[in-house]
Amino acid sequence: MKTKWSKTLSLALICSLSVPVAAIADNLFAGTNAKWKAECGSCHVAYPAQLLPTSSWQRMMKGLDKHFGTDASVDTSTAAEIGAFLEKHAGSKRGIAGETTMRVSETAWFEREHRKVDAATWKNIKVKSAANCAACHTAAEAGDYRERGIRIPQQEITR
Ligand code: HEC
Ligand code: HEC
Repeated sequence: MKTKWSKTLSLALICSLSVPVAAIADNLFAGTNAKWKAECGSCHVAYPAQLLPTSSWQRMMKGLDKHFGTDASVDTSTAAEIGAFLEKHAGSKRGIAGETTMRVSETAWFEREHRKVDAATWKNIKVKSAANCAACHTAAEAGDYRERGIRIPQQEITR
C-alpha cells in the first residue's frame, strides 16, 4: 500500500506481518553451551551450529582474531570448548555438509529457504544484513526459527 509521499515528512511506519509458510522440519535448533552462547551471541545471535559444516566452524575458530573484520578472539580453553560444541552439532545433512563458506547466509540452503523474501525486505534498514536473523526470526535468540516466530519488519519511509 502506497502512502502520500512528502519531501519534508519522514514517517516510519513499522508494524509486523506474519508470513504464512509451509510447515517443514522442526526448526528449533537443539544444543546449547554457556560459553558459546555468551561469546558467540554477544555481537549477533549465536548462529545454530547445524547451519554450517564442521570444516567451516574449524576454519572460523582458527581465525577469530580476524572475524569478518572484527576481533572475536577468546582464550584457548574457551575456544576449545566452543569448537567442540560447534563440531558436535555441525550440519551433516546433504546441502550443508558440502558448504565451504563461513557465512550461514551464503549457503545454498539459506538462499533456497529465503527465496521468497523480496529485495526491498533485505534492504530494509530494520534488517540491514541477511546475517541479522533476529530482525525477522523473533525467537532466534533461543535457537527457534520456526515459522510461527517469523515477523517481517515493515516500514514505509517518505522523504
Ligand atoms: C566482536 C563481535 C563478534 C563476536 C564476539 C563474534 N562475532 Fe561472529 N560476526 C561478527 C560480525 C561483525 C560478523 C559479520 C556480520 C554481517 O556481515 O552482518 C559476524 C559474522 C558471523 C557469521 C556469519 C554470519 C552470516 O551468515 O553471514 C558467523 C557464522 C559467526 N559470526 C559466528 C561466530 C561465532 C561462532 C562466534 C564465537 C566464537 C562469533 N561469531 C563471535 C562479530 C562477532
Ligand atoms: C528478512 C527477514 C529474514 C532474515 C533476516 C532471516 N530470515 Fe530466515 N526466514 C525468513 C522467512 C520469511 C522465512 C520463511 C520462508 C518461506 O518459507 O517462504 C524464513 C525461513 C527460515 C527457516 C526455516 C523456518 C521454517 O520453519 O520454515 C530457517 C531455519 C531460517 N529462516 C533461518 C534463518 C537464519 C539462521 C537467519 C540468519 C542467518 C535468517 N533465517 C535470516 C525471513 C528471514
